[in-house]
Parts: sequence; structure tokens; C-alpha cells
Amino acid sequence: MFIRNCWYVAAWDKEVGRKPLARTICGEAIVLYRRTDASAVALADACPHRLLPLSLGTVEGDAIRCGYHGLLVGADGGCLEIPGQGEAPRRLSAKAYPLVERYRFVWVWIGDPALADPSQVPDLWFCEDPAWTFEGDRYRVACDYRLLVDNLMDLTHETFVHPTSIGQPEIAEAPIETRLEGDAVVVERWMQGIDAPPFWRTFLKRPGLVDRWQVCRFSLPANVMIEVGVAPAGTGAPQGDRSHGVEGVVVGCMTPETEDTCSYYWGMARSFEIADLGLSERMKASQAQVFSEDTVVLEAQQASIRRHPDARLVTLAIDAGGAHARRLMARAAGDPSAS
Ligand code: FES
Ligand SMILES: [Fe+2]
Repeated sequence: MFIRNCWYVAAWDKEVGRKPLARTICGEAIVLYRRTDASAVALADACPHRLLPLSLGTVEGDAIRCGYHGLLVGADGGCLEIPGQGEAPRRLSAKAYPLVERYRFVWVWIGDPALADPSQVPDLWFCEDPAWTFEGDRYRVACDYRLLVDNLMDLTHETFVHPTSIGQPEIAEAPIETRLEGDAVVVERWMQGIDAPPFWRTFLKRPGLVDRWQVCRFSLPANVMIEVGVAPAGTGAPQGDRSHGVEGVVVGCMTPETEDTCSYYWGMARSFEIADLGLSERMKASQAQVFSEDTVVLEAQQASIRRHPDARLVTLAIDAGGAHARRLMARAAGDPSAS
């Protein structure tokens, strides 16, 4: 059961061009491309004639021509031309999806088009703010997208899944606070007076102990933004003044493809050394490495869940954030058993 009336990331802006791009969202096959004015289009990826995926065709002007019998389909989904048959019948059309391009992503509305409100695109201001920089990539993961939400809302796993990169024992030991803020779930962790992990030490450029934070925020349908950073210990970061430190936001937008496959759009927004493009590339490469450690675990977990259809996932204290998020998702998807 998917949440349908919401905006999902369908692609990075950089992925959509004049060559058709196929994506599946909530079980619906969609083709994306750009018009001549560079605005993006999302159509059902099935030719109105005999259902060949339009993504196998070619873009012509603002339209797309089917790669089988050459039907020309306009950006609004209407059939414009049938080779050898003169005027195209009006009833031949492909579904067109509402689309918004914002924060470096192409967002598509899967549910009732009449309800598509661009102001409801989640506020990822740090992905576009001139004082910040943002880069990332996409993984296709063979798991239920909710397993990724669980993963990102419980960072104790860093100690065990990522011991050589971002993990440190203090993460699993530090207390967490989990709370609901309207339709968002927040899991907050502070590690005060610790040694900075190598990654953060490099950017803080100061010796001495630090206060390190991780604040995970889940919002519907399946977006998890994690504020991360360090500041010299005792400079007031836990009390709200992070100005002496360095910080970023780990961006995670999950888009369900099928019940047990999804797209994971990930990246890192940061407000330090933003002009350093080499650093952006290196950070993306190291994030790719870290997240590939997660995908190995998540795909193995999904396969095991499939082998144990009657087993139930146990919720421990560390799972509280993910459990809250799952309740919000179930309610938004219209599951009557979600309280
Ligand atoms: S299937 Fe597309 S034109 Fe025939
Ligand atoms: Fe991880």
C-alpha cells in the first residue's frame, strides 16, 4: 500500500534530458524528458497505441515519438500524429503527471492530479541556498523503501555497519531523544566532549574535544534529512548556537518502485568550503561507499524477510524513530489499522 497523494522524487535534475528516462514510482511506469525550453515532462511510460514503453522512443521537439509504429505523443499526453493516418483521434492519450522541479530534484505527483499542490513539495532549502552546496546520487535498492527509512532513523547502526568510516562507539552509547513535531518525527542525538571523528576533524581545523550532533527528521512520504556536524566542546552548540562549528545535512529521499524495490536519492548539503568542487566529489564518493554498505545490509534483510513471511519485525528502543515514521506512513496510505 503506497501513499499516492504526495510528491515523490522521480529523478535528479541532472538525470533528465532529451533522452527519455524510465522510472517506476508506486508501481507506475513513467517516462521523463525535457522540452526544448528545458522544462521537464512526466508521462505514463506506455504508448496509447499498443503500450510499448514510450521510453524506447525518441524526443522530437516537445513531444515523444513511439519507437514501434511512430505515434507522436505531446507533452500533455495527447496524441498529435499517427503516421499514415492523418488526424489523430482525440481519445488516444497517455496520462500526464504533475511535475515540479525544485531543490535539484524532479518531483512527480502520483495520485489525483487535482490535488497536486506545488507548495507541498518538502522544504529542502539547504539544497538550493546560495550559502550552501549540494551534491549526491541515486541508488536503486532491492528492498521495501520503509527499510531505508528505518535505517536512516536509527544511526546506532553506524557503529556496526560503518565502523571504518563514520562509525564510532560513542554513537551507539549516546542517548537519543525521539519526538513528534506535527507530521514529522525527530530523533536527536548529542555526543558531548568527544574526540572528533577524522572526517569532521579535517573541516573543523581546530584541535580539542568536540560536541557532535545528529538530528534525523522524517517527513512524509519518505524523506529523511539528517543534520550533522561538530563544534568545539563548550561553545554552546547543544544549547542552539552551532556557529562555531561545521555542519551539513545528509539528504535521503526514498521513492517506492514496487513493494520490495525503491530508488534512494541521497546526497550531502553543506555550508562549509562550498566553492571546493573537488571536495564535493570526494564527499560524494565517500558517501557512495558508506551507503553501499547500507544497501548490502538492506537487500540481505529484505531477502530474509521474504524467507520468513510470518515473522514480525521487533521494535526495540533504537527503532522508536522508524516505528513512529511507519505509523505516519501507514496512516497516510489509508491503512485503517494505523492508530
Ligand atoms: S505501440 Fe506505439 S505506435 Fe504502436
Ligand atoms: Fe548507514
